[in-house]
Amino acid sequence: MGGSMHLIGLRVVCLGAVLIVGRPKPCALQHTSEASRGSLISLKTAATLRDRLARRFVNLFSFAMNDDVVHTGCAPVADCLPAMAVGQQGLGAAMPDVMTPAETMIRIERLVAQGLVREAAEVAAAALWQHADQPDLLLAMAALNEHLGETELALGAYERACAVAADRVDAWRGWVDALTHAGRAADAGPGLARLMALQPPIWQQVTVEVTTYCNLKCRGCARTIDAARGQWTNRHMSVDSFRRIVEAIPPTAEIVTQGVGEPTLHPDLPGIIAVAAGSGKFGCICFTTNALVRDADYHQELFDRGLSHLLVSVDSLEPDLAQTVRGGTNASDLRERLAILLRRFPGRVIVEITLGGTNLHGLAQTLADLQATGAGRVNIHPFDDMGLPDDCLSRERRAAIAQVVPDLRRAFPGLHIEFHNADPSPAVCRHPLFEPAIRVDGSLTPCCRILDDGGFSFGNLLEQSFEEVWFGTATDRWRRAFEQRSPDLCAGCPMFLPRPGA
Ligand SMILES: C[S@@+](CC[C@H](N)C(=O)[O-])C[C@H]1O[C@@H](n2cnc3c(N)ncnc32)[C@H](O)[C@@H]1O
Ligand code: SF4
Ligand code: SF4
Repeated sequence: MGGSMHLIGLRVVCLGAVLIVGRPKPCALQHTSEASRGSLISLKTAATLRDRLARRFVNLFSFAMNDDVVHTGCAPVADCLPAMAVGQQGLGAAMPDVMTPAETMIRIERLVAQGLVREAAEVAAAALWQHADQPDLLLAMAALNEHLGETELALGAYERACAVAADRVDAWRGWVDALTHAGRAADAGPGLARLMALQPPIWQQVTVEVTTYCNLKCRGCARTIDAARGQWTNRHMSVDSFRRIVEAIPPTAEIVTQGVGEPTLHPDLPGIIAVAAGSGKFGCICFTTNALVRDADYHQELFDRGLSHLLVSVDSLEPDLAQTVRGGTNASDLRERLAILLRRFPGRVIVEITLGGTNLHGLAQTLADLQATGAGRVNIHPFDDMGLPDDCLSRERRAAIAQVVPDLRRAFPGLHIEFHNADPSPAVCRHPLFEPAIRVDGSLTPCCRILDDGGFSFGNLLEQSFEEVWFGTATDRWRRAFEQRSPDLCAGCPMFLPRPGA
């Protein structure tokens, strides 16, 4: 005898080439209390135990046991089956395959369920002695040791799991998280890069706020409301910062180059559009504008640089009403500009109506004016509470409007009318996964509704790597919590119903 000794629970002892094992029989389950049943796994009859041991050992000595007495009597009536196996078959053979990795995982899970985490970690360690480099066992060993505060053991196991199972996201994620928890986030770069390669984010849309300047004071807009409170900062994103962001983010179906602010006030919006187009990362490049700042030639240049389509905000074309809801709007200038844009860029200009309590009564007239101006596609979406709750439409009102949309379509056959978010969806919002937004300062937020200056963000893409911000532990934790309940910042979202927690 000699060499290392290994203990799995109290059931298996292997000393070099000698194995002493004691197995309960399958019938033991019938006579065991509910509480102890979890600890009875890998049950063997005399025949199956002999078969298992014979695969690895030359000499087998099997016994039977009743109460405290070991004997060589009748196995079928024994309580337990001890055995001794001597003389391992083959040079360098590993420990006998007494418990398979799958059996070991079951045992680990049962021990954890009973709160026996340290014992579970010992079982994992012992099993790895038999099944070195088995990824499930390595990950169990890592997670259990992390739980026990054995950071170095956990990191070692994660690292090994990443090496032997390089395609397993859970291995890389575990390693990155463990490094971060250990205060070693700086070492996580290769892990994050690998995660990114394994799990490329598939975004459907990204909003990039290129400016927070504006020429209007629309009464319900977050900018107008915050500016009145002295809480607004006017700022442009430089073309260079925009380029860095575009280089960092993944290919995305659509990029919207505007947040809260008027994008055409940016000193080099053509340059911004050219960077987006030149990257080849976006299927569609667009933005929403009040259309009052620049002439048609300017918009021609944007289309020449790669703009896909343009959305023009028109809440009313009636002078007083337009001025009330979108302060600073000259309705006749807007009508004229819109008509030119529609004529010059057919099929590429969409009208956006934000419908609230103030302009609801003028909707039919607005649609009539738009049809006369040559508009085609018209998207209507409900006014959202950004500090002016009184103008929001109740759900009943929205439902009633949705009911009359078919009538509106019949009344204005030249228009293609869509009413979005009439009823907030009860589904879990997927924006934080697929449609995030980037503020003018470079911070990445869950969606284009969450653009408040200095508010919540996952991190800053101009100061941190994309991998760190998007795959970081905090972001991951936020997203997992988001799956369970709505955070406070989603309260009042017109697109999704809040789940418990908002
Ligand atoms: C914030 S603006 C930025 C782009 C540009 N300045 C414009 O007005 O088109 C984008 C869109 O948000 C809409 N909007 C402003 N305040 C809103 C509110 N309280 N609820 C819903 N949409 C709003 C605007 O009408 C516009 O269509
Ligand atoms: S034009 Fe756009 S950004 Fe400016 S105040 Fe109106 S809605 Fe807000
Ligand atoms: S629920 Fe609304 S506010 Fe919250 S992340 Fe989704 S879109 Fe944004």
